[in-house]
Amino acid sequence: MTLEVPRRILVIGSGGREHALAWKLAAEAGVEQVLVAPGSAGIALTPGVRCVPVDQLSGGSVVALARSESIDLVVIGPEAPLAAGVADALEAAQVPVFGPDASAARLESSKSFCHEIAEAAGVRMARARSFAGGAESLTAARAFAQELAVSGAGIVLKADGLAGGKGVVVTESLDEALALLPSFLSDRPADRPALVVEERLIGPEASVIALCDGQNALALPAARDHKRLLDGDGGPNTGGMGAYSPLPDVSDADVAHVLATVHRPILVEMARRGMPFRGFLYAGMMLTAEGPALLETNVRLGDPETQVILPRLGVPLAPLLLAAARGALPRAPEVLPAVEGAAVAIVLAAAGYPGDPSRGDRIEGIDGALADGALVFHAGSAAGPDGGFTVGGGRVLAVVGRGGDLANARAAAERAADTVGWTGMQRRHDIAATVPAATVPAATAAEATGATS
Ligand code: AMP
Ligand code: GLY
Repeated sequence: MTLEVPRRILVIGSGGREHALAWKLAAEAGVEQVLVAPGSAGIALTPGVRCVPVDQLSGGSVVALARSESIDLVVIGPEAPLAAGVADALEAAQVPVFGPDASAARLESSKSFCHEIAEAAGVRMARARSFAGGAESLTAARAFAQELAVSGAGIVLKADGLAGGKGVVVTESLDEALALLPSFLSDRPADRPALVVEERLIGPEASVIALCDGQNALALPAARDHKRLLDGDGGPNTGGMGAYSPLPDVSDADVAHVLATVHRPILVEMARRGMPFRGFLYAGMMLTAEGPALLETNVRLGDPETQVILPRLGVPLAPLLLAAARGALPRAPEVLPAVEGAAVAIVLAAAGYPGDPSRGDRIEGIDGALADGALVFHAGSAAGPDGGFTVGGGRVLAVVGRGGDLANARAAAERAADTVGWTGMQRRHDIAATVPAATVPAATAAEATGATS
């Protein structure tokens, strides 16, 4: 099947994920221009890419921009414009858009809604209960935390609502959970979910992201994010400090299994409720000893997963996004092919992140990293006075190394990260350093032991 290529694409957003998207789309055959709005000075350096200002939370402004620029397809990067209904406005204006409407975006903006849909769809998640704000919920939340602890499970506390990946605390003890509960419930309205208390699951994680057209889903190569701030998975959760792909322990067959047991059932349930999901559906999976479990859904590409997934994607993305926006994705290949080799992204973050970042320092060494063959995706950088860049936000850059295998890609990423610096820069040194080994496929294990069922 030959798919139509959108010639003029508008990407909404300004982060590293949007930079990687624009970089990939602009390099594809048939794509003439990629606009990123609002974009940034760093994103604007990408060949074939132009940045234009817009209020990205205003559906009216995005529609006006799409019309004035004769845009064939709008791709919405971040969750906030999706939750604000920018896709709804574009759909109403009959501008092709890839990204869910506000009702479907609740799969990310409300963790209780995600649990509700997963339960109705028969998708395995951690045991959990949702609590409204206010003092009255506190007693019930305490009781559920105690119940989990008695059953031998650890406890995870999650704020309901968008928190940039930072509203989750994986507690180490019941006492810690009990001490933290009031901070999640006080000052929150009593008429809506404020907190999800969840059983702590154990295992490696994997991000499996699929392009969805409302009914059908095609998976991108799987990636693994490193969420904690510090080496050895210490420190607080962040939006993500690094990522790698491929995952030796997650085969294409495993990805297909996640599509069949997570993405597709969720699509069916969403459609049944009259809110068909079009866009990137991100399944944050934990690979537990009892099998894969869904930790969360996001309604967009992961950041920094995108920065390693898109350099590995072996097919043009633009025609698939347009087909999905029209509700007509091809049915195959259900796991999209990847190019040979591996990619590793290291996030360079400002001092103070994930709290209040310290801004304004001059960034040194970007050109050196580029000259060494790394990709440098801009997130929270700002234009400096002399054509250079300064620190403008929390996660500032992602440097991506590529190589024939993960070890080589990691070495390239480390070299690039060593080249770049500023006062107080934070980064991890162990991204992709310890990679879970390939698991033996169930069928092979059964043959080896002579089992017949
Ligand atoms: P979330 O925003 O729900 O993906 O949570 C952020 C991170 O917190 C995940 O990537 C996990 O590392 C961790 N996490 C979330 N839920 C759980 C859970 N039920 N058990 C263990 N870790 C979790
Ligand atoms: N890297 C995790 C996320 O994008 O939510």
